[in-house]
Amino acid sequence: MRRLAPVLREDGVELDLISLVRTILAACKDISFRVGQAELSGVLGSTLDENIQGETQKKLDVLSNQLLKDMLLESGFVRAIASEEEDFIVEGEHGGRFLVAFDPLDGSSNIDINSLTGTIFSILPVPDNKLAGDAITESDFLQPGRNQVASGYVMYGPSTILALTTGKGVKLYTLDKTHGSFLLTNENVSIPEETQEFAINASNQHSWQAPMQRYVRDLLDGKNGVRGKRFNMRWVACMVGDVHRILCRGGIFTYPVHTDNQAQPHKLRLLYEANPMGLLIEQAGGLVSTGEQNILDIQPTELHQRVPVILGSKQEVQVCLGYHD
Ligand code: F6P
Ligand code: MN
Repeated sequence: MRRLAPVLREDGVELDLISLVRTILAACKDISFRVGQAELSGVLGSTLDENIQGETQKKLDVLSNQLLKDMLLESGFVRAIASEEEDFIVEGEHGGRFLVAFDPLDGSSNIDINSLTGTIFSILPVPDNKLAGDAITESDFLQPGRNQVASGYVMYGPSTILALTTGKGVKLYTLDKTHGSFLLTNENVSIPEETQEFAINASNQHSWQAPMQRYVRDLLDGKNGVRGKRFNMRWVACMVGDVHRILCRGGIFTYPVHTDNQAQPHKLRLLYEANPMGLLIEQAGGLVSTGEQNILDIQPTELHQRVPVILGSKQEVQVCLGYHD
């Protein structure tokens, strides 16, 4: 069975894609409410389970995953999903035009301390060679980040904020909790090219490679060092929170290689974190790299693959990459 041609909106965005994003937002509104209920609904704390990556699952990780999974698979727009909290892909409707990869609740160590968390999503096309009746496999998700037709995050903070790109810049929307709708609050996000702010988990300093050691040492040297200016440091322990700050006022964020952990040298996931955030950052005028190549050009080899990440203000990322040459 052949697939029907997509119906487009005036600005060229596919109508089914808009409906799919609305489905994600419906689930995220529910997640936002439950994150806010916290102790009152007994949703804080851990389950007794681990995810495929050996990490303890929080109750809200599991709940958020279930909400997104159910709503996406029932929507009719989604051919299959991949989630950080699912071992394998899950197939949806045969007529669905899209694949969705997501991190249902990023920054889960922040859940129990009433700090920032978020949902990250990446929307990929079903590969052209797949007909409507064909089964979807893991390999269909292994597309470079450049193939994403949309990506974004919903951040659960003092306000609930959506950052969205469909490849035509980045827009921010704020959830009006009295009416339940996401209202456009910034229609063209642009990251300043220069910055004096960096984000890195400095407790891992002993295991960074030499280029990152030198780069951060020069930042810390401040005004009298080679950089000639003072840098400030921020770390939210939630990638959504750090990327949001960078979209708002610039900065550089990195989760580099860990040389002391051969089994797992990288922390962040390519499909659920690095690619969707990479598209947002690039669409807002920033730069995103592993230190060796642009993240969006990586050909993934595994569903739960992890990569080193350097992203943010263009000029500062270029300076950091200069240490890696
Ligand atoms: O999902 C992984 C993640 O929680 C990111 O959201 C965050 O940037 C990072 O890990 C925090 O790492 P750490 O636990 O080293 O502070
Ligand atoms: Mn995460």
